[in-house]
Amino acid sequence: MKKIGIMTTGGDCSGLNTAINRIVRGANLRGWSVVGIIDGTDGLCTSPANVEKLTIKSVPIENARLGGSYLHNGNHCMMNFETAVKTGHLDQFNKMLKTSLAKLKLDALVLIGGNGSLSLAWANRDIYSGLQLVCIPKTIDMDLPLTDRTIGFDTAIDQLTKYCDQLLLTARSHHRWFIVQTMGRDCGMLALNAGIAVGADAILIPEIKFDLDELVAHIKSNERDYGIIMVSEGITIRGHSGRPADMISRKLTACGIPNRAAFPDYIQRAGDTTAHDRILATKMADCALNAIENNETYVMTILRDNVCHTVPLSEFVDAGERVRDPNVPGMCTSNAYVEPDNPLLAIADSMGIYIGQKRK
Ligand code: F6P
Repeated sequence: MKKIGIMTTGGDCSGLNTAINRIVRGANLRGWSVVGIIDGTDGLCTSPANVEKLTIKSVPIENARLGGSYLHNGNHCMMNFETAVKTGHLDQFNKMLKTSLAKLKLDALVLIGGNGSLSLAWANRDIYSGLQLVCIPKTIDMDLPLTDRTIGFDTAIDQLTKYCDQLLLTARSHHRWFIVQTMGRDCGMLALNAGIAVGADAILIPEIKFDLDELVAHIKSNERDYGIIMVSEGITIRGHSGRPADMISRKLTACGIPNRAAFPDYIQRAGDTTAHDRILATKMADCALNAIENNETYVMTILRDNVCHTVPLSEFVDAGERVRDPNVPGMCTSNAYVEPDNPLLAIADSMGIYIGQKRK
């Protein structure tokens, strides 16, 4: 009989509770016990560790669709990697995590996190040397290498789609354009996919150079006098400052195009989990449980061609672009971006959506 732990870290997204529910369900069937670590790594920094025994009753099936995480994702008041590095207490922090995990006598830990959490886990892998570490990728940004999908991405696209569906109605009434700013950090996957889903007239992402005058000409040449311009929060415009949607809005206003900037913000991370995300979370949970059964460690579950399997965490670190972590000085994360051969770019082009620099 094994004892496993589950921890959710980094920004939340919809689908975490489905993953937790399915892990508990599969683990219980195998006769394993499960504890949930509360508040991410913060829960390992208290003595005793802040954990909760998880059973099928404590993670009810009807709640598995809800956004957020039963286990929480971290408490800003407490010690975490960022504050430990900033205050020079990283060694002490790492020791605390290792000691707490040892005291919990865990055989395995399922870490559900984004590129920051997974990169940190690999960089500080000694913490997990006494158990099996199995990671599951989640994020609305879809900026992790190797996997075709991350938990939470589909729901975020759905949330943006529903939001824009409503905006389009008021846009039509007032003959105006809405510039919708998506999350995604410096990765344009979310804006690109949501833009295609809603039938945006322009999609601006950090990976592709664009020209404001071209954008204006494109909007002016449109037969419709309303619509959506989807912009990723990560775009920058030389000589302009402020929020990207506001920058574009000012330019359109100056050119006589009626418009408003709109910020869906954190609803992208919330909302009932879509069926796609629930299926993905179930596949990932099942894959993680099988990995534990097979005594794998330092692995990550990925989706490739609709099938989940595991890859070594080291492969994940090597596969991405190494980028400085904005929150942890001296630390790099392994990131993925919209590649120039992403099929949606060519489709956007052929559908007359302005996406910037022309590609052949
Ligand atoms: O990484 C997920 C994400 O939602 C990004 O898209 C966004 O930039 C960021 O987190 C917001 O983080 P915070 O919760 O710190 O505001």
